[in-house]
Amino acid sequence: MGSPDNGAPKGMKKGLTSYGDAEFSLFLRKAFIKGLGYTDDALDRPIIGIADTFSAYNACHATVPDLVEAVKRGVMLAGGLPVPFPTVSIHESFAHPTSMYLRNLMAMDTEEMVRAQPMDAVVLIGGCDKTVPAQLMGAASAGVPAIQLVTGPMLTGSHRGERVGACTDCRRFWARFRAGEIDADEIAGVNGQLVPTAGTCGVMGTASTVACVVEALGMMLPGGAAAPAVSSSRRRIAEMTGTQAVRLAGRGLTPDRIMTAEAFENALRVLLAIGGSTNGIVHLTAMAGRLGIAVDLDAFDRIGRETPVLVDLKPSGTHYMEDLERAGGLVAVLREIRHLLHLDCLTVTGRTLGEEIDAAPAPWPQSVVRPFSDPVYREGGMAVLRGSLAPGGAVIKQSAADAGLLSHTGRAVVFTSIEDMARRVDDENLDVTPDDILVLQSAGPKGAPGMPEAGYMPIPRKLARQGVTDMVRISDARMSGTASGTIVLHVTPESAEGGPLGLVRDGDTIRLDVPGRTLDLMVSDEELAARRAAAGAGASASRPAPERGYARLFSDTVLQADRGCDFSFLVPERTEVTPRG
Ligand code: FES
Ligand code: MG
Repeated sequence: MGSPDNGAPKGMKKGLTSYGDAEFSLFLRKAFIKGLGYTDDALDRPIIGIADTFSAYNACHATVPDLVEAVKRGVMLAGGLPVPFPTVSIHESFAHPTSMYLRNLMAMDTEEMVRAQPMDAVVLIGGCDKTVPAQLMGAASAGVPAIQLVTGPMLTGSHRGERVGACTDCRRFWARFRAGEIDADEIAGVNGQLVPTAGTCGVMGTASTVACVVEALGMMLPGGAAAPAVSSSRRRIAEMTGTQAVRLAGRGLTPDRIMTAEAFENALRVLLAIGGSTNGIVHLTAMAGRLGIAVDLDAFDRIGRETPVLVDLKPSGTHYMEDLERAGGLVAVLREIRHLLHLDCLTVTGRTLGEEIDAAPAPWPQSVVRPFSDPVYREGGMAVLRGSLAPGGAVIKQSAADAGLLSHTGRAVVFTSIEDMARRVDDENLDVTPDDILVLQSAGPKGAPGMPEAGYMPIPRKLARQGVTDMVRISDARMSGTASGTIVLHVTPESAEGGPLGLVRDGDTIRLDVPGRTLDLMVSDEELAARRAAAGAGASASRPAPERGYARLFSDTVLQADRGCDFSFLVPERTEVTPRG
């Protein structure tokens, strides 16, 4: 890989396109960059690419232009030449059909642009849910020294004296509106307060989760996860990130030396300890997969039994990201689970994770990160389930579920697709009781396509009106990290791939046992075989395969959730497994 220390070309000479005459290629390259107003002196130094993901569609990235300026300043202070370049940007609410559908496109864009253009290191500026995983997947494959910067969380708003923030409170207020508890005026008022500043969602949703696990992974400066998007500390972190990128370039410290199997184990521990989003497991699996590292879901479950949830943030708890920042940021968590971490893992600072924890400011009294001995939730936030309904595994965020439903047997009420659910869930004649289990089919990686966050199925309106706030819900979809409920996700194999989920019918009995880690469909093998034969190999409601373009590529090559939903042709052979703990 392109280490300046090993004699590989650096700066403008890096990755010269060949017309059969390398000197002519360099001559042309210099002519064009001079056309942009650079002098030869400016070019004779390490080049730091800056992946600029500003988009007017992306509120979470509204501050990216400021961050690019701060990164550029840091690069120049350290003697490098900063060169921002655009890539795909993805916002959760403006990505059809789903942001997950586009994550791999952004990863491919990032990988190819980092590889194609001359740069000795790259600063990746991401933030909104899928962007950071996409950037790190791409950077891991490109093999160029890389450092992650996030836009940072938004601040909270205030609705009639009550603190609110995207998007746990979006869902809470919307559920109250559906139940008829609040009127149209009030829901409109809340709407104006949920996203009061630029930045990523202010709870422990996917963006905050990914920011925290990437800091733990060592790919971000210490303290880089939690500083608010609109704070001056966020800009200082950006400046320091630029400076550090020049040092990374000098050392040729490539992502594979930081993102090791041990580092991913640290990240998985942190995912559990922060009560992180279930999306975190899919993204970490995808990132690790790019480096030939497989995430073992059962081992992840095992380490979950000894890793409590310590961070009291919504949706598992009560606070917001700005409170985590005031409590000291992620290092407050790392310190509490220090005995469970691989402290010798290298980070982008060139120091180890253990050295960074030691170098952090001393802790002070606070109530956001609980001590290991007095956790928010005694086990890790997530549990992995297996059984006849999920032979390849399924995930539940147990810390955000109703404790009374974690062991539950009920009658299935089946929706064959998201459209079917939208059509019927609020039908007054729907045959459903609070003890039933809602099942959604065809919402997995291939089925929907793009594995939408439809796993957070609405409580049927007639039950919501009776005050029902949680039911067991099961699907092959994902769920937003800002959502909560007794919701089983990522059922693998998905129904569109012939998984048993697609064979569930109304009235079947399903048994969920989270303490026992099982999820079973109580239907005989003979009956299931008969249903499979009747439905054909593709099970329920599969759509015809797309004919062309990215949709075709996606449909033909997307892997299941247990492989991170990456594309099969982007993943090297797996040679290592994590976690081992
Ligand atoms: Fe971008 Fe929530 S919508 S982080
Ligand atoms: Mg989200």
